[in-house]
Amino acid sequence: MLPYATLLPLNRHAATSLSQQLTTGLIHLMQQGLLAARDPLPGTRTLARLLAVHRQTVVVAFDELEAQGWIEQRSCRAAVVSSRLPTVAPQPFQSEAARHIAPRAAFSYPKSRPAAAPRPAAPLPLTLSSTPDSRLAPLAALARKYRALCLQPARRHLLGYAGANGSLALRQQLAEHLRATRGLPAQPENVAITRGGTMSLFLLAQLLLQPGDAVVVGQRSYHGADRAFLVQGARLHRVGVDAQGLCIEELAALCKQQAVRLVYVTPHHHYPTTVTLSAERRVRLLQLATQHDFIILEDDYDFDFHYDGAPILPLASTDRTGRVLYMGSLSKVLAPAFRVGYIVAPADVVEELGHWQRRIDRQGDTVLEQGIAELFAEGEMGTHLKRARLAYHQRRDVFCQLLGEQLPAWFTFEAPTGGLAVWGRFADCVDLPEVARQCQRQGLGISDGKLYQTAVEASPFHVRLGFAALNSEELAQSIRILSQVLQHLYPG
Ligand SMILES: Cc1ncc(COP(=O)(O)O)c(C=O)c1O
Repeated sequence: MLPYATLLPLNRHAATSLSQQLTTGLIHLMQQGLLAARDPLPGTRTLARLLAVHRQTVVVAFDELEAQGWIEQRSCRAAVVSSRLPTVAPQPFQSEAARHIAPRAAFSYPKSRPAAAPRPAAPLPLTLSSTPDSRLAPLAALARKYRALCLQPARRHLLGYAGANGSLALRQQLAEHLRATRGLPAQPENVAITRGGTMSLFLLAQLLLQPGDAVVVGQRSYHGADRAFLVQGARLHRVGVDAQGLCIEELAALCKQQAVRLVYVTPHHHYPTTVTLSAERRVRLLQLATQHDFIILEDDYDFDFHYDGAPILPLASTDRTGRVLYMGSLSKVLAPAFRVGYIVAPADVVEELGHWQRRIDRQGDTVLEQGIAELFAEGEMGTHLKRARLAYHQRRDVFCQLLGEQLPAWFTFEAPTGGLAVWGRFADCVDLPEVARQCQRQGLGISDGKLYQTAVEASPFHVRLGFAALNSEELAQSIRILSQVLQHLYPG
């Protein structure tokens, strides 16, 4: 007889019942070839005694095994392993391994290169990343909405399948919001809801690009967009970015040499350098798009947060040729965990996007989308945006003052006119990855700059330091830590 007490370890504190554990354990023995077709099993009393469980536990497990076709039970005779089971070559018994998924796949497949340094295992008390402060977001109102939408019988229809391009209510509200805030003449049929900007980029790259297509991005640009284009097999061409944004004349020169399919821009606050594309360059970019027949993909990831003067209207607000596709996200408005983004495009593109969304995802979180639509309709989102803009404006000022006063020798930057982060450069003596490591030990997360390093730079010096997620005291504490780390590493 097999040493059942060793082969079938039972955990009396597990959430799974003992009979279920016994069923699974015996199936493992059969799958590993330790119990073969027609082998007798111990009697229920014997097995119960060996495993120190109630006999009924074994009876239930055997009945389940019989119902599933693993064993055969005949009255007055010992149960036997089903005669129909194929023969399995016995494998060495690994009781521990049997309880885990295999650590490695048994097949090969192309592996992606990780784009960014892994996040610390536990969240750090302070992080200077370009995320919003979720403490300011109307999350209590959103949670109430979500609860009510789940529980009210009259809203039960919202729990079913819906359109692939997202909740109609949110498409309507967003169209209205975009018309009112940024002169974008969008109707609901021009809006596709996605699960965030990352998904929008992936979808648009799938839809618009063929392997080998030329895509133009800034010398430094959003790494997530680069990735989406490269996955589609696009060839990336990088053009310079200066204090007025993307160097459009470099783009014009490139267009004379070869066909360009798509130009990716973040004109309101260029990612990562935060500069705004000048009016003159905007006009020229739109002219070039018509002249050379390329698509402009305008990623307006943080339109709502502009502090100095009125926000600049998107390129999409002036385009009537159907060449500008516009995308935005609520990640910077609410919190990145709420996966809601949107693409604004001519209706035919939106319809096609719907076909793609249906293939990938069927639909988004329609309950969340409906809740957010209601917050827009009730004015709650408008009020939140005003409050958040005010708070982030103050935080930008506090942060820039702290940086200027406490890190003058180490960090040079220009105060951004908007957005959630400051772009700057550490001095040549600074080993930024080492500084980031030391800060992390002190509970402060900052970028190690590798994400922003260009091909010609031997080591990273530039970073985006986010200020919006922390209040004034937290910002002061963060800069104190950063300053202490720098003083410790580079005394004198
Ligand atoms: C420029 C830019 N575009 C798009 C995104 C994507 O954001 P999400 O996928 O969270 O909507 C980000 C995120 O930081 C971003 O910085």
